[in-house]
Amino acid sequence: MKRNTWNNREVVLGVTGSIAAYKACELASRMTELGAKVIPVLTHSAAELVGPSTFEAITGQRAVTAMFDSLQNPDVEHITVASRASLFLIAPATANILAKAANGLADDWLSTTLLVTRAPILFAPAMNTNMYAHPATQANLNTLRARGCHFVGPESGRLACRTVGPGRLIDPPVILEAASLLVDDRDDLADKRVLITSGATREALDPVRYLSNRSSGKMGYALALEAMARGAQVTVITGPTEIAPPHGAERIDIETAEEMAEAVAQRLPETDVFVAAAAVADYRPAHAPSVKQKRTGQPLQLELVENPDVLGRACSQRKHGQVLVGFAAETGDLEEMGREKLRNKPVDLLVVNRVGPGQCGFGAGSLDALILDGSATVTDLGHVGKETVAQAVFDRVAQSLRGRAPTETHI
Ligand code: PMT
Repeated sequence: MKRNTWNNREVVLGVTGSIAAYKACELASRMTELGAKVIPVLTHSAAELVGPSTFEAITGQRAVTAMFDSLQNPDVEHITVASRASLFLIAPATANILAKAANGLADDWLSTTLLVTRAPILFAPAMNTNMYAHPATQANLNTLRARGCHFVGPESGRLACRTVGPGRLIDPPVILEAASLLVDDRDDLADKRVLITSGATREALDPVRYLSNRSSGKMGYALALEAMARGAQVTVITGPTEIAPPHGAERIDIETAEEMAEAVAQRLPETDVFVAAAAVADYRPAHAPSVKQKRTGQPLQLELVENPDVLGRACSQRKHGQVLVGFAAETGDLEEMGREKLRNKPVDLLVVNRVGPGQCGFGAGSLDALILDGSATVTDLGHVGKETVAQAVFDRVAQSLRGRAPTETHI
């Protein structure tokens, strides 16, 4: 039976003044149903959009709307709540609360308590596309990420301001998945070293151009977060991506497949679990001139040579007790493609996910995926958040490790 990680957990649900504030009611309702004590905290603007009494009816708790509410209700005194809470979930999170949190402002209950708490903080941003893309907001997001705050979404879509683009609050079930990882206290990967490849590689054509793909690093990020939540020491070898691996994971930046192969080869001997989520370029230009190439008025032919197969090498060099996990992004029949890939790369688990025009996968928050194990038993995960994929992967990895001897060389 699946463990309920929410039971008896205290969660602060910070709701800020986005039009998506009404969606926080669904979050409050679901977490309460799962057994969490949810303290709803509404900023002044949020309370204009959704009535505090709605949250009170859903959660059975007094909603905090002002700094001095604790004078009437000592149970919501901010220092006490900050130390009791297992999680601060800010959904929706406006550009304003992100700016306040990044700069340490403390002018209301929520921003003040965010400075006090040592609980994990998860922001689900929602705002107009231009506000989201603004360098000030992006700088604030980077600052908060570097400090160890977590993010889920936003996604792209039609916004209330009638524009289309990134900034829409990601669906509440996806927010809950991310939140449940953070309130989870499983430690079935304690003392295990997990190595993850993530993102795309870039193969230079000349000093300014390269061949690459659409991998965003989100899958690698979700895997790292899940492995850390279960107590593992995590190293992420990442191609250039917009999102940094989560705080607490060791990060090794690479650009090309050859650099990735070298970084993996160095780390593999001391690794218990290797998860290859990166989209590695199979080929690179045979020659990359050191000067920028000019138009010639003639068709250009590229000669490509094969890159090292990073996971393939790990399969042939695997040590006793190591668990290997591969990913495969496919456009055809997932199961058939997966079985074929397993024949070439005999990993313990293979996550086969659907990609292609109009499909989820690269850059999205979710995957349409199957998991095949070493004996080619298939589990269809369906269309789920990348957090759920990560959880399913490490459930199986932990199970597999329980049945194996430990890796020999821990230095
Ligand atoms: O980063 P996101 O935007 O979140 O997207 C996630 C993802 C779609 C990139 C991810 O879910 C995924 O599917 N990763 C594998 C991409 C892929 O197509 O792999 P592949 O079929 O080319 O390779 C199969 C496996 O071998 C992969 O584990 C890959 O990391 C590995 N490989 C491939 C080529 C190579 N030269 N070296 C490798 O190690």
